[in-house]
Amino acid sequence: MAWRCHSSYLFLGFIVLISVSSSSQLQSSQAWTLLSLQRLLNFPLVLTSWEINTDFCGSEPNPSVTVVCYEESITQLHINGNENASTLPRSFSIDSFFTTLTRLPTLKVLSLTSLGLRGSIPAKISRLASLEIVNMSSNLLVGVIPGGISRLKNLQTLILDHNLIGGRLPEWIGSFPLMEVLSLRNNTFNGPLPVSVSNLASLRVLVLSFNKFSESLPDLSGLVNLQVLDLESNYFGPQFPSLSNKIVKLLMRNNNFTGGIPSELSSYYLLQQVDISSNKFVGPFIPSLLSLASIKHINIAGNRFTGILSPNTSCNDELEDVDLSYNLLTGSLPACLSSKSKHRIVLYSGNCLTNKAQIQHPISFCLNQALAVDLSPRNLKKASVHKAIVAITVVGSIVVALIVAFVSFYFLKRTNARRVMKRPPRRVIEHASNGYPSKFLADARYISQTIKLGALGIPSYRAFSLEELEAATNNFDTSSFMGKGSLGQMYRGQLKDGSLIAIRCLKLKKCHTSQNFNRHIELISKLRHRHLVSALGHCFEYYLEDSSVSMLFLIFEYVSNGTLRSNISGQKLSWTQRIASAIGVAKGIQFLHAGIMPGLFANDLKITNVLLDQDLVTKICSYNIPVLAEIKDKVIAKTSPAFTDHIDRTMHEEKIDIYDFGVILLEIISGRPVTSRSDAKLMKHQLQESITADGSARRRSVVDPVVRKTCCGESLKTVIEICIRCLSEEAAERPSVEDVLWNLHFATQVQDGWRGDSNSSEDSPLSSHTPLSPHTPALRISEG
Ligand SMILES: *[C@@H]1O[C@H](CO)[C@@H](O)[C@H](O)[C@H]1NC(C)=O
Ligand SMILES: *[C@@H]1O[C@H](CO)[C@@H](O)[C@H](O)[C@H]1NC(C)=O
Ligand SMILES: *[C@@H]1O[C@H](CO)[C@@H](O)[C@H](O)[C@H]1NC(C)=O
Ligand SMILES: *[C@@H]1O[C@H](CO)[C@@H](O)[C@H](O)[C@H]1NC(C)=O
Ligand SMILES: *[C@@H]1O[C@H](CO)[C@@H](O)[C@H](O)[C@H]1NC(C)=O
Repeated sequence: MAWRCHSSYLFLGFIVLISVSSSSQLQSSQAWTLLSLQRLLNFPLVLTSWEINTDFCGSEPNPSVTVVCYEESITQLHINGNENASTLPRSFSIDSFFTTLTRLPTLKVLSLTSLGLRGSIPAKISRLASLEIVNMSSNLLVGVIPGGISRLKNLQTLILDHNLIGGRLPEWIGSFPLMEVLSLRNNTFNGPLPVSVSNLASLRVLVLSFNKFSESLPDLSGLVNLQVLDLESNYFGPQFPSLSNKIVKLLMRNNNFTGGIPSELSSYYLLQQVDISSNKFVGPFIPSLLSLASIKHINIAGNRFTGILSPNTSCNDELEDVDLSYNLLTGSLPACLSSKSKHRIVLYSGNCLTNKAQIQHPISFCLNQALAVDLSPRNLKKASVHKAIVAITVVGSIVVALIVAFVSFYFLKRTNARRVMKRPPRRVIEHASNGYPSKFLADARYISQTIKLGALGIPSYRAFSLEELEAATNNFDTSSFMGKGSLGQMYRGQLKDGSLIAIRCLKLKKCHTSQNFNRHIELISKLRHRHLVSALGHCFEYYLEDSSVSMLFLIFEYVSNGTLRSNISGQKLSWTQRIASAIGVAKGIQFLHAGIMPGLFANDLKITNVLLDQDLVTKICSYNIPVLAEIKDKVIAKTSPAFTDHIDRTMHEEKIDIYDFGVILLEIISGRPVTSRSDAKLMKHQLQESITADGSARRRSVVDPVVRKTCCGESLKTVIEICIRCLSEEAAERPSVEDVLWNLHFATQVQDGWRGDSNSSEDSPLSSHTPLSPHTPALRISEG
């Protein structure tokens, strides 16, 4: 019996046992009330034992009927009918029934289930002011939840499962300070879940399954006691609910959720069961779900999750069932799932995995389907805004021959679209992911970087809708406009959750095959690192009517503390902070080169493309994404910027960034803007002389006075030397990024040591100390 679980009830029951033995009889009026109820319910089978002489308080409780008394009054009444019971007579009146019931004002627990009660719950239920637990499941109750219930301030549990109650859930549902269990399964509720639900601080169980609820849930992250959230079979969505990480059971099957699953999910250490099947989720599956601390049941079937599964992924030993069926997963099943040793149910058919024991699609299916498109009809107002954006973008568009995979969609959707509206509809590609052959998977760096993503403190990569971007930028209002570069406009925006974003709007001019489209997005989604302005998501958009790709929006985090140049010229950075900035840039380069596959080289690094955040962490904000490069190449052909005349483009492509890094270092050291390559050559020459020359006068003319005040000579010398090497004309002579990092760390270390040493003079001469080789273990400073 479920009520036994309730600890306050157990306590009550204990008191009752004592009182039953000492005091004797129930007030006769209350006994009569019970007999009236029996008559009103048309003498159901379960109540055949009730007679005029029955000792109600003394009778043995059983699952069907239980009466509990305290000091001659009834505190609990359970009448649980048989599901096969004959229906109540036509003359049954729920109003009379409750009128009778209110003669038991001391009731704390009321359970009336499977009795065929029909009609709507009368408002007079409020007269049962002591009610704590109410269970009226499996009746034929209709109408709405009466406002009278809002006066039951002691209510802890309200269960109305399997009825026909509906309408919108009233806002006052959030006004029960003690509410622990609210269960409305299998009714006809619709509309959104009221925001007030987030005030139910004691809530442990929230069951809303099998209704017609819609829209996204309010922020429930404040409900730290919430253990069970059951939303199955509603129209909730599109946003993934925001929850506390103490959730134990999360059931979201068969709703209208889209987008990616948030990376927070992998911090739900108490989560035992997650069912997000039969939604429209997209984006990469998070393999770390399989190894969550408490996880037993996982079901993600029937979505469009992408990503490459690795045999090395580990699983929680306690996993009992995993259903990955009907997604777009590639790679091979984690060994822990494919081994037969455990009594574990693993379903994975309908993906593109290499394990063929359950039916799989060919890999091309998953790659193409990852591009599955959605027709999103737009109203005219938005369309004109959109045209305005197009109008201010560079040059006209090239008609794109549709990718084979899209052709069927195209005709289908086009016919639909014609029927619905005259103006050109547009489809928004919700996402596209996947596509790296498994050889990349073998690269451990790739995997380790993917795993690290969670630690960045930024939301997981996802597809954005254009509506969202329009809302964030106030319809791309000019007040949101940040600037226009060779690669399109930048807009600043603010998402609903308050976070700031930067949006790069790109006009696509080239035909993309499905394969290279996939790759671009896969790559962009990996551009997340502490020292990059990280990609948060994207949004694709194009017209159906003439098949031309119109726009690609790339959404990045917004970094607000200015460029590295403005921070240097504003004299805001000490020498230590300048080295730290340089280390940040170098780590960013290291990630671009080796942290993602394939690496990004020739990123055209400039000090103005290095931003600082609130904590003075440097972030590279412009890098050589292939999609951008395709657009950019045309532009460069016309105007050749200062630093693009590098030699040996193909032979030493990673060294191009090292040269640019050297230019940034020049500015860090000198505090003066370096605006041309000849400028850079001249300053490099001066630096070289300053190191060899004895006189400090020449050094002064080169080094930023701010730096001279705050740095130790040895630290400065180390940085100058590495700077000179970075600026070598011969690409092969430039140091590796690891070498650069080692030297910069060394410069920090000697600087730290120097600061502790009060004897050192402010203007200490550049010492002749040479740093040890990068391979000297004693001095290596660990990365990260
Ligand atoms: C409510 O009543 C139904 C039917 O008797 C029962 O199955 C269910 O467990 C009860 N719920 C609770 C939480 O007591
Ligand atoms: C209800 O009736 C069905 C078929 O007559 C029977 O199988 C089932 O056991 C009955 N249920 C109960 C609770 O008596
Ligand atoms: C919903 O309730 C009806 C009647 O109360 C029952 O027949 C049906 O099986 C229930 N559906 C679910 C999904 O629980
Ligand atoms: C499902 O979500 C889409 C947008 O994501 C929305 O347009 C649609 O109305 C939703 N469906 C229902 C039944 O709420
Ligand atoms: C998986 O583990 C094996 C042995 O531990 C190793 O050889 C292999 O490279 C790993 N594969 C991946 C993709 O990490």
